[in-house]
Amino acid sequence: RRLRNIFNIGEFEPAARKRLPRGVFSYISGSVETGAAFRANRSDFEDIRLVPRILAGLAVRDQSRTLFGKTWKHPFGISPMGLSALTAYDGDIVLTRSAHECGIPAVLSATSLISLERVAKEGHARWFQAYLPGDDARVTGMVDRLTAANYDTLVITADVPVAGNREDSKRDRFGAPMKPSLDLALQGVVRPGWVMGTMARTLMNHGMPHFENADVERGPAIISKNVVRSFGGRGTFSWRHAAIARERWKGRLVIKGVLSPQDARRARELGADGIIVSNHGGRQLDYAVSAIAALPAVKAEAGDMAVMLDGGVRRGSDVLKAIALGAEFVFVGRPFLFAAAVAGDDGVKHAVSLLAAEIDRDMAMIGAPSLDAITPDILAENALARR
Ligand code: FNR
Repeated sequence: RRLRNIFNIGEFEPAARKRLPRGVFSYISGSVETGAAFRANRSDFEDIRLVPRILAGLAVRDQSRTLFGKTWKHPFGISPMGLSALTAYDGDIVLTRSAHECGIPAVLSATSLISLERVAKEGHARWFQAYLPGDDARVTGMVDRLTAANYDTLVITADVPVAGNREDSKRDRFGAPMKPSLDLALQGVVRPGWVMGTMARTLMNHGMPHFENADVERGPAIISKNVVRSFGGRGTFSWRHAAIARERWKGRLVIKGVLSPQDARRARELGADGIIVSNHGGRQLDYAVSAIAALPAVKAEAGDMAVMLDGGVRRGSDVLKAIALGAEFVFVGRPFLFAAAVAGDDGVKHAVSLLAAEIDRDMAMIGAPSLDAITPDILAENALARR
């Protein structure tokens, strides 16, 4: 019923706004400083125009995509997002389980509140995103833990040497650890659905949420300061530690947060299997180039690595634009988390089907029987010339 009036994945945001406490909503929707990097993710997609091809006579279109030896039903997956379990009950499991049932990948965040072992089991998660600390023993410890839990793809997020300047979160006093406050209590009163459906259920079934996967000692996420302090170690993480992870990790290795062609070359020299071109959804360096604008130059240096992208993908046409400019696969963040907040598994599955239907319809109008036909030919010349 809640999904009846949601016709595209962008529409989960206003629906979620009504259900989530202000701090949680603005943590998800927010960006950093002026929001320029965040807006560029959308406006750069909007600047690209497509050239349809007529009379293609295609009764069916195939949008499946093979990546790392696995064929996914759609060319998109779910980006890693921290604290998902504050948004929806068992949020990380909702995201990974729904993705699994829809035949797409979802990446479990390092800053999830549910242990990676439990999400592997109940959520069928096989992709894990890590923030590795600049400490050799911890890097190998994390890799061994992932191997034991049966993960096959390790995504190292490399664009968080320090936390981004999230002024909205400061304004709303939202952060981990989340501190009990009068404001938070008042927000709870006006959002009883969230309090009962997400928070109370979590506390009853699992107790106080913890950071279970952080690169560091386990610690309570909501009440302790330990976790935040220990995150300071990230700044010393470097290519040398990525090399240690590469050496130790037998699965696929992906570097997330690449925007520079030189870094793409380094990732290739490191032996990465793929990169995610990303400005972290406009949540790290403000005025960072958008992922879609950075894509062509990064692709040129990527060699055999799989090139993926996230940031601002909201329409099927965006997915096709990214593929035309050289991405093999894309990821979508915020809309899936809002979908989980609105309607749990059903919300996430509805989001997948809306985006998939848009891709299919657009492929018909572009005259593309499969994604192999999505080449720069589908892009209007002037769109590329302007960048
Ligand atoms: C994120 N992102 C993120 N990335 C990451 O590598 N590890 C993480 O833990 C998180 N956490 C996180 C939380 C929330 C609430 C958001 C919205 C984002 C960034 C995320 O993976 C992705 O790069 C962007 O969200 C993609 O942009 P869109 O699709 O949200 O525009």
